[in-house]
Amino acid sequence: MLDIQAEINQQERALKKALSTAQTEDALEKVRINYLGRNGHIANLMKSLKNLSVDQKREFGPKLNAFKQAAEQSLAEKKHGIFKSQLRAQHEENRNFDVTAYEPNQKFGSLHIYTHIIEQLSNIFMSMGYDIVDGPELETDYYNFEALNIPADHPARDHHDTFWVSDNLLLRTHTSPVQIRSIENSDLPIAVFAPGRVYRNEALDASHEFNFMQGECLYIDKKISLSNLLATAQAFLQAFFGKDDLKIRVRPGFFPFVEPGLEIDASCPFCSNGCSTCKKTGWIELLGAGLVHPNVLKCSGIDPEIYSGFAFGFGIERLAMIKYGIDDIRLFHSSKIEFLDQF
Ligand code: DAH
Repeated sequence: MLDIQAEINQQERALKKALSTAQTEDALEKVRINYLGRNGHIANLMKSLKNLSVDQKREFGPKLNAFKQAAEQSLAEKKHGIFKSQLRAQHEENRNFDVTAYEPNQKFGSLHIYTHIIEQLSNIFMSMGYDIVDGPELETDYYNFEALNIPADHPARDHHDTFWVSDNLLLRTHTSPVQIRSIENSDLPIAVFAPGRVYRNEALDASHEFNFMQGECLYIDKKISLSNLLATAQAFLQAFFGKDDLKIRVRPGFFPFVEPGLEIDASCPFCSNGCSTCKKTGWIELLGAGLVHPNVLKCSGIDPEIYSGFAFGFGIERLAMIKYGIDDIRLFHSSKIEFLDQF
């Protein structure tokens, strides 16, 4: 009699311990089979009742039943506990995807104004059938000057405050050398647009940088005339400023690699009778241009009697500054988030 009671007490303690160490559903199922299974501890105790007297059966039968019910209840409670802690763990794991964690003031990256503007320019020229090309920033005297009809002692070199790297190597002072590289590398006719970085040894102020960007357009074919140049320049500027009624005006200009050389102004995109952008003149100076000089064609092996071409170049920052009302060129290389954020 005492044995059965001792057995029940011991199994109760053992079950309590087994339940406290079981942390997973699988472990819990093993405990259930051990205690409540067909051959489990409780079933075995029930079987052992058979050998007891009627009185003993009356005493221990209900005790065993109560133990069985308590065991079932503890197992159910433990199962619920495991389920809840699994949910909690899952929630922890999914925390990063919780939409309520969104912070409305988070900063996102944006395109740099250079990327943005070069994409706009390239798209316009591509839509007119031009290829986008580039050339090295470290150039030779030949490509930067000589082949562009600017020989060693030519006074035009004085306009290019050049960073010389060695007797023959320099940081290119304009994108015009890409004209020569394009002629050398492609078959005629040629239609290219070359945006890129250029360098001039100038003091820094609101409108001068020693490291800035230019865009260069070159078109060579048979029978190319000033009309082609003017129509192309106007179509380009109209597309860039998004103004179909933008007009251009032409003044004579001198650049050794074009003949005739021109300065092209655009009618102010922002006013009809004078504003601060056009300094109350109604016109803005934008492009250096001209028909490709016969010497340049000859130097690169093209017969100027058969082929002719036009070229124009411009400062990329200047175009962007006018379009977006930026008043200081130094902002392009600054890390001011308030400025960069806008593009
Ligand atoms: N390369 C010239 C400069 O940096 C700009 C220029 C003038 C480019 C006339 C041209 C051109 O293609 O035809 O000042």
